[in-house]
Amino acid sequence: MTTGSQTLPRVEAHLSPRRHILDLDDFTRDEIESLLDAAEAMREVLDRDIKKVPSLRGKVVITMFLEPSTRTRVSFEQAGKMLSADVINISGSGSSAEKGESLLNTALTLQAMRADLLVVRSPQSGAPYFLASNLDSMGVVNAGDGMHAHPTQALLDLMTMRRHLGSIEGAKVVIIGDVLHSRVARSDIHGLATVGAQVVLSGPPTMIPLEMLRGDVRHTPANVTVEPDLDRAIEGADVVMALRIQKERAAAGLLPSMREYTRRWMVSEARLAKAKPNALVMHPGPMNEGVEIASSIAHSPRAQIEEQVTNGVAMRMAVLYQSLAGQHGGDL
Ligand code: NCD
Repeated sequence: MTTGSQTLPRVEAHLSPRRHILDLDDFTRDEIESLLDAAEAMREVLDRDIKKVPSLRGKVVITMFLEPSTRTRVSFEQAGKMLSADVINISGSGSSAEKGESLLNTALTLQAMRADLLVVRSPQSGAPYFLASNLDSMGVVNAGDGMHAHPTQALLDLMTMRRHLGSIEGAKVVIIGDVLHSRVARSDIHGLATVGAQVVLSGPPTMIPLEMLRGDVRHTPANVTVEPDLDRAIEGADVVMALRIQKERAAAGLLPSMREYTRRWMVSEARLAKAKPNALVMHPGPMNEGVEIASSIAHSPRAQIEEQVTNGVAMRMAVLYQSLAGQHGGDL
């Protein structure tokens, strides 16, 4: 067991400064790889007996979650604390947002208190961009905005794949389900396309973005294809990723019925048998077991779902570190 070391191993090396982290669509492959390397170093700290290094001592990180969250919210808080930042959590209820204060005025208030970084989850697509363009000293990290982006989830997904596959380049990654409403899928697609994976989207055609369904080359990266028939999509896959079926969407008529969905798109034992023998099974959580993923698979050794959560802490440590290092340009 590793104990006691007070230092952060090999992180400073290649991280280019970035005050705001809003999505992966403007990340180069090198930048993504550097973050994956930094997260590996953070994972080493996470696996120590004493999980704390002083790297972000004196920095103030505020998490503001305006939508429910368990793993993303807790992992950002845990990540900040392990790097010795002061982490303050606020939510919509209990803050002045309840009295009608605008999101921007709330953020300006936090910036005036000299907070260094705001981690924000919002039901409104684009909210973190709006904040980032109106704040001059506080950084913004997007922890999920509406249907738009969830960059740190995509990064932790890439980290999990790289740890287990060695390299993601050329790997076949099948993303299944409600791609249309999934900010996780959107960011995963950007990240995976940038590092050279072959992405196949499978699900009810009503839940696949129209431009991707049509193969519109202006809006679909070259290595992303659509195969609604999951039995065909899953053949030879290296990674099988199920998305949460958002039951609230069923009412909007986008799903034939839950039973029909489960019959055609649930990741089952029989379907998984068509993937590579050691294919990874992933899910961003929270899961609807027995709907998009069979319970026997969700808790099998092939499932990386808890590993994704662990890597989420390491990746968020890397992201906080990158953002705050960029802000102060300094000697961390
Ligand atoms: C997802 C989210 O909130 O975008 N969960 C997560 O952050 N791990 C996915 C979902 O809610 O379906």
